Amino acid sequence: MPAERWSLQKAELNDEQFARWRSLLEDRTGMQLTIERKTFLETSLNIRMREIGCTSYDTYYEKLMSGLAGEVEWATLVDRLTVQETSFFRHPSSYELVRNYCSSLYQEQGRKHIELWSVGCATGEEAYSLAMVMEDLVSEQEEKRYYGITATDISLPALAKAREGIYNARKLDRIEQRYVQLYFENHERGRCRVVPRLKDRVCFARINVLDLRQAPVQNVDLVFCQNLLIYFQSQRKKDIVSHLADRLAPGGMMVLGVGEVIDWQRPDMKRIQYKDTLAFIKRNHS
Ligand SMILES: C[S@@+](CC[C@H](N)C(=O)[O-])C[C@H]1O[C@@H](n2cnc3c(N)ncnc32)[C@H](O)[C@@H]1O
Repeated sequence: MPAERWSLQKAELNDEQFARWRSLLEDRTGMQLTIERKTFLETSLNIRMREIGCTSYDTYYEKLMSGLAGEVEWATLVDRLTVQETSFFRHPSSYELVRNYCSSLYQEQGRKHIELWSVGCATGEEAYSLAMVMEDLVSEQEEKRYYGITATDISLPALAKAREGIYNARKLDRIEQRYVQLYFENHERGRCRVVPRLKDRVCFARINVLDLRQAPVQNVDLVFCQNLLIYFQSQRKKDIVSHLADRLAPGGMMVLGVGEVIDWQRPDMKRIQYKDTLAFIKRNHS
């Protein structure tokens, strides 16, 4: 296919090309790209192609397919094509539920350690919000208690930002003032940095939710997965939710985004009712 001519306007993907890019994205990330998002795809591809001096969609596609260099390039592109919008304490009632549940594990069940997993953590705000809730909780316990958070995402650049833990001060608006004072320090140019004692509790790693079978995370007490499943088609969502449920310890809780999965049920998972949340507890004996 001849190379598209580049002008100030971006070239349009023809139907065949769009179908090819769409299935690449769906096969590798599970995300569905509807025709309404064609312009978004074209713009994202064009920006990246210009950055690396590639002049046609087809040449760029071939580049992505070529061995290790292709894999490295894919890691950059996937970051451009996925939506990483996030915020601290994005869905307050879910965090309230987490707090109540973990409090009962420490106090009623006498647990010493709690393991949490933020799935699709983007640039880290969700994982650090969970860490703030947990820090608060352990500080209230009479005896020493512990917790650890694994936070995973498909996007390497997003994970790099998460590990860095530096945010624009504006992003801290939704965080309670006392948390801001305890867990952030001033950084340069109106930015704030997560304090090491909070950062050390979170381990960031790359995991594609399509490869959960190979994921080295198991027996966790809490799975927190919000605003990720919305990009997948219905059966794929259910499969991912089932894989996440498999990774829970008996008695563990899975918190999803409200309305993000419908018609999913499993005999060993009990839906729990808590205002404006979608959550399930794994039964102790199935
Ligand atoms: C909209 S953000 C949600 C962030 C956060 N959970 C929240 O609710 O604020 C969706 C995240 O899912 C990640 N993602 C998309 N496809 C993924 C996949 N196949 N495996 C793992 N993460 C994926 C994206 O990179 C992005 O960071």
